[in-house]
Amino acid sequence: GTDGLPTIDPLRLVAGEMKFLTGNIRKLLGSGHPSLDRAAKYYTQAEGKHVRPLIVLLMSRATALCPKAPQRQQSTLQASAAIDTSISPLNILSDFNPSDATPVSIPADTDILPSQRRLAEITELIHTASLLHDDVIDHSESRRGAPSANLEFGNKMAVLAGDFLLGRASVALARLRHAEVVELLATVIANLVEGEFMQLKNTARDEKNPKWSEETLTYYLQKTYLKTASLISKSCRASALLGGADAATVDAAYLYGKNLGLAFQLVDDMLDYTRSEKELGKPAGADLELGLATAPLLFAWKTMPELGPLVGRKFEKEGDAARARELVLQSNGIEQTRALAQDYAEKAIEAISGFPDSEAKDGLIEMAVKTLKRNK
Ligand code: FPP
Ligand code: MG
Ligand code: MG
Repeated sequence: GTDGLPTIDPLRLVAGEMKFLTGNIRKLLGSGHPSLDRAAKYYTQAEGKHVRPLIVLLMSRATALCPKAPQRQQSTLQASAAIDTSISPLNILSDFNPSDATPVSIPADTDILPSQRRLAEITELIHTASLLHDDVIDHSESRRGAPSANLEFGNKMAVLAGDFLLGRASVALARLRHAEVVELLATVIANLVEGEFMQLKNTARDEKNPKWSEETLTYYLQKTYLKTASLISKSCRASALLGGADAATVDAAYLYGKNLGLAFQLVDDMLDYTRSEKELGKPAGADLELGLATAPLLFAWKTMPELGPLVGRKFEKEGDAARARELVLQSNGIEQTRALAQDYAEKAIEAISGFPDSEAKDGLIEMAVKTLKRNK
């Protein structure tokens, strides 16, 4: 690292687990209908960053060393349960057929439970489902350096593929046999929609000539929690719960995920201003084109009231997006966004400061540091 200490590679700590992630996810997504099968697995082809599963797996290892809650009845998870993917008149609903179980790949010798590994896969499924829907909503034409699913299959199939992912994620979730974890992840799905709805309006009141207020930022951060941090925070909480951690550990895991998630999206919103499509593997400068006022613009707006009417009309008038972009780059909006992201990253690290020292804990700390340094 920059301080001369060797930097820990978070991925290396759970590499054995991550190796099987995409394969296991593809098993969860099998459909007897060839074109649904193809659309559903489409975003698993290009390697994503797999940030969410990585965090869940690191959290699982880090919390394995923390104090335990009083015994809960053991989960009856069948790690070998497989989902029947054939479509025949008898199982047209593609329901679970226990006699058709093929084992999922399990790496040996780790302190990660099968249920936590499955949770990591579920988080990636929910995230990928949200991307399928998001690219339709955003009219996005590229994702992970390839044509988006909506471009490749059309909007209808992309939306349905996303729904299919949510269905399979729900089946996998139910099989964890842990009601509180089911409730957490089901809430995440609702939160994703709430966040996306809030984003359709730039401000709470949706006026023609809105004035900047502290509420502007509160609204943005609430939206950001719902659309990004909810999944990360609640899956961190679920990971600790599945491991049987005590209440203080479960809360710490949640706080880590919440703060990391907020930092992550702030950086994402910053990169939309500072990086190219080539670097991102998805369109750059997209937010203003979509009418969205994110953190860099909101900070600029605080000192540049002339941005108000542009926000009010969602940068729709010819030249609005370019003008807004120019003002943001002239302002200190980018630096303020970076500073706020840093505050949250520090809070994430602080949240888990009470965990016993371990490589996995260092990996979680490094994830927070990397979130600030990432450029895609
Ligand atoms: C990416 O944001 C999108 C999200 C983080 C969530 C999108 C949520 C929905 C579309 C709600 C419905 C989804 C489900 C699964 C119920 P972005 O557009 O800012 O990021 P991008 O630059 O990667 O496209
Ligand atoms: Mg998008
Ligand atoms: Mg979007």
